[in-house]
Amino acid sequence: MIDVPLRVIPLLPAHDRMAFDSGSEPLNRYFRLQVSQDMRRRVTACFVALTSEQCIAGYYTLASASVLLTDLPATTAKKLPRYPSVPAVRMGRLAVDLGFRGQGLGGALLADAHDRAARAEIAAYALVVEAKDEPAADFYRHHGFIALSDSSMTLFLPLATVNKAR
Ligand SMILES: CC(C)(COP(=O)(O)OP(=O)(O)OC[C@H]1O[C@@H](n2cnc3c(N)ncnc32)[C@H](O)[C@@H]1OP(=O)(O)O)[C@@H](O)C(=O)NCCC(=O)NCCS
Repeated sequence: MIDVPLRVIPLLPAHDRMAFDSGSEPLNRYFRLQVSQDMRRRVTACFVALTSEQCIAGYYTLASASVLLTDLPATTAKKLPRYPSVPAVRMGRLAVDLGFRGQGLGGALLADAHDRAARAEIAAYALVVEAKDEPAADFYRHHGFIALSDSSMTLFLPLATVNKAR
């Protein structure tokens, strides 16, 4: 488990994004060059895990989305109202700095995103993620996410499971 205190807060302009290195060039580039513009345009929200020295250990993004009822597994779809789609929250990106890997931070950020989406006043049925590769899909499955179909890299986790535990 991670042994330094971290807090997860919305990304601010004062945070130093340039030192962040997830080992994934597209995720680094997006975080360094694009995310603040997307936040200004309100097409994404970004949250960062910060050390007490204001170092960014990880980040994730959230935005509104929807999932077609016909894309969900039949067992899930049959329990939902017959609308064409259900509202969702998409976690577009999730990345942990190489210096903080394998210490539980990825799982903690996933739980934070899930909790944030489940607490929101605007309803969403599920948290949805787009796995960028097989290891990422494994990581999400390990945390209970379900693939839309066997071959799909889009996975979802219903938010109601969190609410029931409260
Ligand atoms: C994927 C990523 C976010 C995981 O972060 P992390 O902090 O190293 O992972 P954690 O230490 O929180 O792992 C939590 C749990 O997931 C498991 N896990 C981690 N990676 C896994 C994988 N590829 N497959 C299956 N399980 C995995 C760990 O074994 C751990 O299990 P436990 O809680 O039962 O002990 C990180 O490796 C990363 O930033 N990768 C590059 C970007 C990326 O792939 N992002 C995914 C979004 S597309």
